[in-house]
Parts: sequence; structure tokens; C-alpha cells
Amino acid sequence: VRDQIRQYINAQNSEEIVFTSGTTDSINIVASGYLESVSENENIVVSELEHHSNYLPWKRLSSITDCELRIARCNEQGILDESTLLSHIDKNTKIIAITGASNVSGDLQPLENVITYAHSFNCPVLIDAAQLIVHQNIDVQKLDCDYLVFSSHKLGGPTGCGILYGKTRCLQELSPGKFGGGMIQQLNSGKTKDVWAPIPNKFEAGTLPLTEVIGLGATLEYLNNLDMIGLRQHEADLANCLLEGLGKLEELHVVGNNLNSQHLPIASFTTEVCSSYDIGLLLAANNIAVRTGSLCAQPLINRIKTDGFTRISLGFYNTEQELKTLFSTLEKVLLKFRRA
Ligand SMILES: Cc1ncc(COP(=O)(O)O)c(C=O)c1O
Repeated sequence: VRDQIRQYINAQNSEEIVFTSGTTDSINIVASGYLESVSENENIVVSELEHHSNYLPWKRLSSITDCELRIARCNEQGILDESTLLSHIDKNTKIIAITGASNVSGDLQPLENVITYAHSFNCPVLIDAAQLIVHQNIDVQKLDCDYLVFSSHKLGGPTGCGILYGKTRCLQELSPGKFGGGMIQQLNSGKTKDVWAPIPNKFEAGTLPLTEVIGLGATLEYLNNLDMIGLRQHEADLANCLLEGLGKLEELHVVGNNLNSQHLPIASFTTEVCSSYDIGLLLAANNIAVRTGSLCAQPLINRIKTDGFTRISLGFYNTEQELKTLFSTLEKVLLKFRRA
């Protein structure tokens, strides 16, 4: 399965693939790995577009080590401007950790430019690909990211399993954050330093979620047998249809860059008409499942000044007909509240 993952993201070798319990675990492993090497005069860059999973581990690292946590601001539509993001990176940036695509707006980030710029300062880049991996083919060598993390279940695989990809040199230099069986080569007595197992085992303390890992392998086999080119086009058509349809509903404010031609089929909106929770409940009563609330994105909630988002997140199995049903149902829901 390790080699299947290597092929799926085109890593150079399978030692660069670490099994974890999910995206959150993967990011915590990397952040903990910096505990002993980051200093007070260094900084870490994240953005307000991050899921809490790619925010809190860095916040904790900053509070323990006193290094600076730099948070690139979005504007009030939830758009992160590339130059704003780049302006936070300098020679003292220890790592930049950004999402490949926002789990709220579906906006894609300019990863190539960020990576090239960060590398000009020898700064590694971690990509949170929890959303991106579902909707785009990722080639880590072409992208040249230093770390990439994602969860099995977003791809349709089992829960409790995820991946931390790291370039060989990065993983070799990173300290382990979890300790136990399987991650040690030589355990020494007293204060003599222990010798960690070679990568990837150095980061895989304890029994791995073997059943889930095998399930992830089966998931990749299933995905590899699909017509991915056709399905990506279908997703792009769904994304256009989604943004166009939401744009026609006057009371809704779509979050993020809804004019972007390369949008993922994910979009969230806010509205003054009623709470996101009410919309979610009424859509659910019509067999339409959406996510509502903070979506684990409180930095963005605070920037946009809303109490909750309603998110429509589509997969390649969805259809334009289903979107039509969503829009007509949404219209009825909004009408109900307008009358109330
Ligand atoms: C962008 C992003 N990052 C991180 C996560 C956390 O993933 P997990 O809960 O599988 O660790 C999610 C989950 O929704 C996400 O969308």
C-alpha cells in the first residue's frame, strides 16, 4: 500500500510515505518534530484559510517555543491574496503550512508560486491536501512541496488512516513526535541518545491501523480504475454549475473567489435571512446533506464576521440534476424565512 500511495502522488520512493491516523495526526507529527529545533527569533506562516487541524498544532508550537506565528489575512469575502501570503515569508521562516484548497470556499491556493518563493529562503512548505487530493491529481515531485498530508476517508477509504508525505531529507532531519514500539533501532541506557529507526518507521510508533491501510490500498485500486480525466471534467462542470446557481440566489453571499475558473466543486455561503443551522435542517428534511456551522475554520469565521457557513461539497458521483434540486429547494427555504 505504501508503494501504491507513492505512485498515486508520484513520490520518489516509498520511504517518503508515513502512515498516520489522518491529516490532523500528520500535521501534529510535523509540528511536534520542530519542537526542539525552532527558536524564538524564527517564525511559522499559516493563513486564515486553514482548517483548525493546520492551525492549532502550529499555534501550540509557537506558544511552547515562543517563535512567532504569522497568520496571512484573508479579505472580507474570504479571499487570500497571493502577495499578502508571500509578504509573511522571510529568511527566519521555519516552515509555511497552507491548505491546497480551502475546505470552506474550495478556493485553490497558488501553491507553485508559494513553494518557489519559500524555497528561495530555504523554507520548507507543508501542503494540507485533505481537500485537494479528492479533486486533483497531485504530483509531489512536480509540485516540489516538502510535506503533503491527507486522510484516507476523504478519498472514500476507511477512517482512522492518513498519510504524511515528506521529502527524504526533510523526514530524516525531522525529530519524531511519538515514541514507542517500531520506531527505534537502538535503545540506549541512561542519557545516551537512542537511535531512531530509519524513515518512515521513525514516525510510526505503535501498531499501525493495518486494516485501514489495506482498505486505503483497495480504495486507490478502485480510483485508479476510473476514467479520471472524464470525472475531473465532470467535477469542473459541477463547480461551474454550483457557483452559477448560488450566484443567482440574491440573499446568499458566496465565500471566496467565486469567479475563479479553476474552482473545486465546493462552495459555502452566508446569509442574513436565517442561520446556517436552519438552512441545513430544512435541506436535510428534503434529503439534501450539507455541512453547516464553523466548519473547523474559526479564523475565517472571525474575518468574515458570520456565525456560520452553509457548505455544499460535491463529489464526482453527484449530478447537475441534483444541483437543480438543491437550488429549487434552497429557494423555497429562503422564501419561508422571508415570509416569516
Ligand atoms: C482542509 C482540511 N484540513 C484538515 C482536515 C482534517 O482532516 P482529518 O479530520 O481527517 O484529520 C480537514 C477535514 O475536513 C480538511 O478539510
